[in-house]
Amino acid sequence: MPDPLTTPAAELPVRRLGPGDLDRCVALSEDRAWAREERKWLFLLENAEVYAIDAPSGDLAGTVTLTRYGTTAAGIGMMLVATRYGGRGLGRRLMTHVLGTAGDATVFLWATEFGRPLYEKLGFETLGVTEARVGRLRVGDDPVRTRPADLDADLGALLALDGEVFGADRAGLLARLFAFAEEIRVTEDEKGPTGYAVSWRNGDTLFIGPVVADDEEAARALVIDLARRAEGLVRIEADRARPSLLGWLGERGLSQAFSTSFMVQGGRPMPGDRARMFAPMMLAMG
Ligand SMILES: CC(C)(COP(=O)(O)OP(=O)(O)OC[C@H]1O[C@@H](n2cnc3c(N)ncnc32)[C@H](O)[C@@H]1OP(=O)(O)O)[C@@H](O)C(=O)NCCC(=O)NCCS
Repeated sequence: MPDPLTTPAAELPVRRLGPGDLDRCVALSEDRAWAREERKWLFLLENAEVYAIDAPSGDLAGTVTLTRYGTTAAGIGMMLVATRYGGRGLGRRLMTHVLGTAGDATVFLWATEFGRPLYEKLGFETLGVTEARVGRLRVGDDPVRTRPADLDADLGALLALDGEVFGADRAGLLARLFAFAEEIRVTEDEKGPTGYAVSWRNGDTLFIGPVVADDEEAARALVIDLARRAEGLVRIEADRARPSLLGWLGERGLSQAFSTSFMVQGGRPMPGDRARMFAPMMLAMG
C-alpha cells in the first residue's frame, strides 16, 4: 500500500468505505479530537458515499463523505486528514475525488476554520454562518402543539413537503432517517402536514434536524415537543440569519458549541424554499 508520507497525494488510491470500516472512521475522528459519534458514522457509512485514503498501519489517513440528492445537489462532510498526514495534499486529493463524482450538482458543505482555505481554493463561497447549539433544553410549561408522525398515513405528504423545501430528491434518505430516528413530529392544518421535524440519538445527545416549518413559531413548537424526550443534551444547528431563533434557543439553555461557514461551490443558489428550512438534518449531509 502506498505510504502517504512518501507518495505524491495525486497518486494515492481513494477507496469507498462500508459499514465494516466504522471503527477506523471513529479512530480518525478521535485523532482530530472530534467526538466519537459512532451512530452518525454508521448512518453515513450506510447511506452516503464515504471515501478514504488508507494508511499502511491499517488506519485511515483521511476521509470525506458525499451525499448525492439526485443530480440536483450534493453535500460534502467529514473531511478529516489524520494529524500525521496533514499538509501533504490529502485533503485536496479527497475533495477533488468527490467533486469529480458529484458532476454538475450544486455542491455544499459546512466548513470549519481549518477546512475553509482548502474549500476556497476549490471555488467554494461562504453564503452564511451556522451555529451548533448544545445544552439542556428547558421545555417550561409550553403546551404540546405538534403530533407524532404516523408514517403509514403521513409518509407521502412529508416527503412531498420536504421535496418542496429542500428542493432536491432525498426521499430514500429521509425514509431511512425516519427509521433511524428517535421521533418524528408534525404540524398540520386542515389540508395536511405543514411542517415536520426529526430527532435522532448520537451518543448521549439528542440531535434535532431537519426542522421544516411554515414559520418560526411552528419551528419552535416542533423543537420543544421533540426535546421533551431528551434525557440529557440537545443539539441543533441554526443559521445566524435567524437571530430570533438563536436568541430563543439561548434563553432555553442551548449555547453555541462551535460555528461553521455554509459554503457552496461557485456561490450557486441552493434549490428549494430554504426560508422554511429551520435546521439541517446534519452538517455532514445537509
Ligand atoms: C482541513 C483538513 C482536512 C485539510 O487537510 P490537509 O490534507 O492538511 O490539506 P491539504 O494538504 O490538501 O491542503 C489543502 C490546501 O489548503 C491550503 N491550506 C490549508 N490550511 C491553510 C491555511 N490555514 N491557510 C491557507 N491555506 C491553507 C493548503 O496550502 C493547500 O493548498 P494547495 O492544495 O493549493 O497547496 C485537515 O487539516 C483536517 O483534518 N483538519 C481537522 C478537521 C477539520 O476541521 N476538517 C474540516 C472539516 S470542514
